[in-house]
Amino acid sequence: MRVEDLVHFCPPGRLIIGTGARAQLPALIERLGYRRGVLVTDRFFSQKTPWVDEYVSAARALGIETVVFDGGAPDPTTTLCDSATAAIRRTLGGHEPDHVVALGGGSNIDLAKALCITLPSGRPVHEFVKGLTAANRPLPFIAMPTTAGTGSEATPGAILIDPENATKVAVMDNSLRPQVALIDPEFTYTCPPSVTADAGIDAFTHAIESYLTLDSAKFDRGGDADPGYSGRSSLTMLFAREAIRLCARYLKRTYDNGTDIEARTGMCYASVYAALSYGSAGLNAVHGIAYAVAGATHRSHGTTNAVMLPYVLEELAAARCDELLDVANIFGIATTDRNQAVRELCKAIRSLIESIGIPTTLKELGIDQASLPSLLNDALAVTRLLKAFPVTDAKAAYERILQRAYDGEPGEFLAAA
Ligand SMILES: NC(=O)c1ccc[n+]([C@@H]2O[C@H](COP(=O)([O-])OP(=O)(O)OC[C@H]3O[C@@H](n4cnc5c(N)ncnc54)[C@H](O)[C@@H]3O)[C@@H](O)[C@H]2O)c1
Repeated sequence: MRVEDLVHFCPPGRLIIGTGARAQLPALIERLGYRRGVLVTDRFFSQKTPWVDEYVSAARALGIETVVFDGGAPDPTTTLCDSATAAIRRTLGGHEPDHVVALGGGSNIDLAKALCITLPSGRPVHEFVKGLTAANRPLPFIAMPTTAGTGSEATPGAILIDPENATKVAVMDNSLRPQVALIDPEFTYTCPPSVTADAGIDAFTHAIESYLTLDSAKFDRGGDADPGYSGRSSLTMLFAREAIRLCARYLKRTYDNGTDIEARTGMCYASVYAALSYGSAGLNAVHGIAYAVAGATHRSHGTTNAVMLPYVLEELAAARCDELLDVANIFGIATTDRNQAVRELCKAIRSLIESIGIPTTLKELGIDQASLPSLLNDALAVTRLLKAFPVTDAKAAYERILQRAYDGEPGEFLAAA
């Protein structure tokens, strides 16, 4: 514990983790009293796995009817959300559902989260981007992630792409956190290596970024009595440390061998523990800059985070030296020279990213030098994340990070290694 902490910890209502745990869901839904649901997924799951049919039949046997929407897609847009709202409401024929279930990666989970708020009224999702009022209560939500992962099953936000200006927008409220997050590691066994790598590095980034983020005592809650994110605390750091340890042990292993059940399971725990950290602590520069990079390149969430991560860590070498040494220790870096340990850690993380097939420079993502100023402006515009970056001049730091990530060169600190 830390005397100065102001903990505002928001986990999902129920967290169920276990191999084969999906079989428990129909009975739980019955016990919770829900009878008419919507299952949001994509065609991979409806056509290539038995999971959708198995769930729908088992639920029906208990008196729960389910409408399946399998039109989910990677990085869902506000347009997809609005068309899904209309299609599902047509299928429901005037009946209101009493719960929504998501099966899939972060994309299907986010689409389903947004549908929890649009389905009751049929209103377009952009009306909820500025925040929910007490009158906008979302439908109860059950999330079953199939990647490890975004951790969206434990966070308050749904991230959608606004096709009008190619930026990501968020519908965010603690009431959007799932009532049930059900993590069945078997769901992840079918992930191909690129999805495993992208999702796994996302989990690792969540863990480390929230471990180093602004302290809860310094976090500006803007007067919000129920903030979604409110800075790191001893509680969130507990989950972050364990998530980092699991990623250090299992991320590369699960990428190299997708049939390694211990590694798959380890990454499922890593993902949800990372979410229990960042889902209350929040994030900062890696995600702040990665959103801008994703807008410019349309590369995946995990890849755009990964490319920024080592350069952001280097920038934190002074402000978060002790915590970086904790992480270096987890990575087995033994030197007693503090600066040397942090340098070796940044290099080890860059090597890890390379070893799972993800680029480590902005150049490799097709960004040119002339685009750096507009990327900087877009990144600075995400003030929620900028304000949580624990350095004295965050704007200057973002500028240095972008240049180094473009060149692929370490800054003076790392170059001294
Ligand atoms: N709301 C949040 O808190 C939050 C946090 C992080 C990321 N996100 C969002 O999550 C999205 C990325 O999610 P993701 O990395 O899980 O990938 P994803 O959901 O976009 O899925 C990528 C591809 O992998 C496939 N796939 C997923 N699980 C699979 C499985 N078990 N077997 C085979 N194929 C599978 C999907 O069908 C899809 O084609 C982004 O849109 C990002 O913005 C949200």
